[in-house]
Amino acid sequence: MGQLDGQTGLIFGVANKRSIAWGIARALHDAGMRLAFTYQGERLEGTVRELAASLDPACPVLPCDVSDDEQIAAVFRQVGEAFDGGLDALVHSVAFAPKESFAGLFVETSRADFAAALDISAYSLVALARAAAPLLEARGGGSVITMTYLGGERVVPKYNLMGVAKAALESAVTYLAFDLGPKNIRVNAISAGPVRTLAGRSIPGFPRMEEYVRENAPLGRNVDIEDIGHLAAFLAGPGGRNITGEVIHLDAGYHVMGMGRPE
Ligand SMILES: NC(=O)c1ccc[n+]([C@@H]2O[C@H](COP(=O)([O-])OP(=O)(O)OC[C@H]3O[C@@H](n4cnc5c(N)ncnc54)[C@H](O)[C@@H]3O)[C@@H](O)[C@H]2O)c1
Repeated sequence: MGQLDGQTGLIFGVANKRSIAWGIARALHDAGMRLAFTYQGERLEGTVRELAASLDPACPVLPCDVSDDEQIAAVFRQVGEAFDGGLDALVHSVAFAPKESFAGLFVETSRADFAAALDISAYSLVALARAAAPLLEARGGGSVITMTYLGGERVVPKYNLMGVAKAALESAVTYLAFDLGPKNIRVNAISAGPVRTLAGRSIPGFPRMEEYVRENAPLGRNVDIEDIGHLAAFLAGPGGRNITGEVIHLDAGYHVMGMGRPE
């Protein structure tokens, strides 16, 4: 018996087998959860369908660009039908900032880039949580999990606009936790250390970020998508029953350091 047997979950953010969302999906599936997936655009459809089918050929797999309210409404309508009007977990593992925003200085950020990054990376959690709430409430509550990074709390060179979007996302987690708490819906963020994914590798100097954590984190290593999956399954399970509004660091302890290791 898995501890999430009989539960259902909806996963946003699988692009390929390296995606954090895929690590989370595997862990939730292994704990017994039935899953549905979304994909962003036709380009990713085939890969996401293939991965979803490798867990369960009956997984619903639906298109959703999180900047499109109609697509969001359609996803929750179809997921409600597939899962008998109920949902136990929502995984938001989605972020976007224009490539140029990582290359230059934050002070050069344009209004349009700022709006796009904040819309897709932070507002989308609000839109998805609102749409999921009736389905989660129908099951007596549930767990909303999003992904963030230390660059939302402190300056990480080159992270720039995405850091500001993560700060907004983390604040949204706290306000959503307060609004949805009376429905027994928990809302939490996992602040993961650098992971070599499509999004991760698009940050200039990413190998240096990984190396720096390995050299300076108390545990002297990086995390992987399996680690993130285990934590997500914990949050969705009985251990997470009274945890909400939290940003949980999963970074081999890196965030506690005030300076690097002495030579
Ligand atoms: N990789 C890291 O080092 C790291 C560390 C901490 C947090 N995170 C966060 O984890 C999350 C997942 O990223 P990842 O590293 O797995 O990379 P990834 O590239 O595998 O996943 C990013 C996902 O966001 C989706 N996405 C982007 N714009 C979208 C839109 N408009 N509509 C719908 N989906 C959209 C992409 O399709 C993709 O599936 C992100 O929020 C990222 O910021 C990543």
